[in-house]
Amino acid sequence: MSDSTNGAALVDIKHLKVFFPIKQGFIVDREVARVHAVNDVTLSVGEGETVGLVGESGCGKTTLSRAIMRLIDATDGALCFRGDDITRAGRKQLEPLRRQMQMVFQDPFASLNPRKRVVQIIGQPLQLHGTPREKVEGRVRELLSLVGLAPEHLNRFPHEFSGGQRQRIGVARALALEPRLIVLDEPVSALDVSVQAQIINLLDDLQDEFKLTYLFVAHDLSVVRHVSDRIAVMYLGKLMEVSPSEELYTKPIHPYTFALLSAIPIPDPEENRRRDRIVVSGEPPNPIDPPSGCVFHPRCPRATEICREVEPPLARYPNGHLAACHHPLNVSAEEIKAAQKDETSPLTCGDELPSPDEAGASPTAT
Ligand SMILES: Nc1ncnc2c1ncn2[C@@H]1O[C@H](COP(=O)(O)OP(=O)(O)OP(=O)(O)O)[C@@H](O)[C@H]1O
Ligand code: SF4
Ligand SMILES: [Mg+2]
Repeated sequence: MSDSTNGAALVDIKHLKVFFPIKQGFIVDREVARVHAVNDVTLSVGEGETVGLVGESGCGKTTLSRAIMRLIDATDGALCFRGDDITRAGRKQLEPLRRQMQMVFQDPFASLNPRKRVVQIIGQPLQLHGTPREKVEGRVRELLSLVGLAPEHLNRFPHEFSGGQRQRIGVARALALEPRLIVLDEPVSALDVSVQAQIINLLDDLQDEFKLTYLFVAHDLSVVRHVSDRIAVMYLGKLMEVSPSEELYTKPIHPYTFALLSAIPIPDPEENRRRDRIVVSGEPPNPIDPPSGCVFHPRCPRATEICREVEPPLARYPNGHLAACHHPLNVSAEEIKAAQKDETSPLTCGDELPSPDEAGASPTAT
């Protein structure tokens, strides 16, 4: 979306972990296992940047988003917002930050209180943050027209709007406090394709107008392609690949990313038949007991012994492209030779970088 990132990190996540305890017990609850929802993620989002966060259902996208918003606590690691460490910030320290970070949710119906009128839904955060009562209605009207809704609809209830219009209300509510960061958790997944494009265009325009920073979550790579400056691909709580957007589509390095791209249908059936694909079958493993080595190995058609034993680091390739794979795709022998272990790699990974023998390896076509 934006092409003017100035490099300064608005959000800086370092080795962040969010584990959910599973408790059992008759009289006293005992922790018997933990869901490794986010498992050592390091990622920064620059001021004015849009980062797309993509992966299958259950890979930890919402958990990571909620941890960034400080709606849930991190189990380990650090989270900085505009340079301030807010990993363990209490209510008081978070209060002024709350207005700077807002979230838009997937289901625009469930996220709006059905018993409240639009003026109350959008006006509530304004009132809570000190906007005088007599000014609230005027501001709600402004926000409604900003998101393309008729200001005179401010006394309607959510059920009187279409899905796309309800998502516009969600966006207006998020914009009310003039935030710097908006975390969009699958904001268009519940909408028709034609309406998806309208909402994405709206988000794009708003970003330009208000210099917003977006973390845009989706499970489908086709949705984030045109909105993201960079894309982070997540699998079982970990980052598999992080790359500038266009580069990821033209040169996917990680087999999982390649598989996600293979799943996007191409309208031309001829071309569809001709293209190389990696198809991964089955479901992701249980995040209570993640696989050893590369977490993708049980489903990866390229897996070898080292994949089962050693977690690959995020290797740094040209153009700011990172990928965690022992047998990378679409990279030359020179690029592999020059690759370095990136400092954002998980702490548990090994130092083994891919071997140049892998150069030119083509994906396993199916
Ligand atoms: N409160 C919770 N307690 C226990 N486990 C949880 C909790 N919230 C999420 N999980 C688990 O953590 C993992 C990550 O869930 P999360 O909702 O972050 O995935 P997601 O990538 O957002 O999936 P989706 O695309 O379906 O929204 C899942 O295995 C989920 O079951
Ligand atoms: S490290 Fe091995 S198992 Fe993991 S994605 Fe690469 S080839 Fe597949
Ligand atoms: Mg989710």
